Amino acid sequence: MILETKRMILRQLTMDDVDNLLLIFRDPIAMEHYPSTKDVAETKSWIQWNLNLYANNGYGLWAAIDKKSGEFLGQVGLTPQEVEQVIEIEIGYLFVRKFWGKRFATEGALACREYGFHELNRNRLISLPDPLNLASRRVAEKIGMVLEKEVTKWNKQVLVYAVHKDY
Ligand SMILES: CC(C)(COP(=O)(O)OP(=O)(O)OC[C@H]1O[C@@H](n2cnc3c(N)ncnc32)[C@H](O)[C@@H]1OP(=O)(O)O)[C@@H](O)C(=O)NCCC(=O)NCCS
Repeated sequence: MILETKRMILRQLTMDDVDNLLLIFRDPIAMEHYPSTKDVAETKSWIQWNLNLYANNGYGLWAAIDKKSGEFLGQVGLTPQEVEQVIEIEIGYLFVRKFWGKRFATEGALACREYGFHELNRNRLISLPDPLNLASRRVAEKIGMVLEKEVTKWNKQVLVYAVHKDY
């Protein structure tokens, strides 16, 4: 276990999470702001990307588990992202659609913000939502992030939201 919030534990993803992640990656609505849905092979690559991040950086996207039911709710965590030639740390969140609107993403993102500031000693954390992803932008705002600029990344325009330790 990496982190505990009021309602969730955050733990590392493993290759046993393929079916859990497919609840998100096979859902065209959840993946609306991504290039496409993901199949099993792409999901395994995603998990491998995170296993490498845990080994090399000590952080990555984590599985969010409901403390009461043990159910897989989604993923939230920290990933390095290059923005205009600078490596920044992004707080990312993707939840299973049946759990949307229950403030799980906000609760998880807040815990990741504190982890980034106090365990990783970072002064600045960002999020990179698609301009049309209003729920994602709202989560960024609710954890104290402020819209800074629009940049090109992943072959499209994304917004840079940022929060600083002394915000
Ligand atoms: C983005 C996402 C994680 C939000 O999850 P969630 O658990 O519903 O988030 P929360 O309940 O913590 O908060 C969502 C906020 O957005 C608001 N919101 C939701 N849909 C919205 C919409 N269409 N327009 C405006 N606001 C919206 C909610 O009202 C809530 O704000 P509030 O607390 O002020 O009422 C979820 O929609 C998701 O997994 N989407 C697919 C993956 C994705 O796009 N991830 C972001 C990549 S940058």
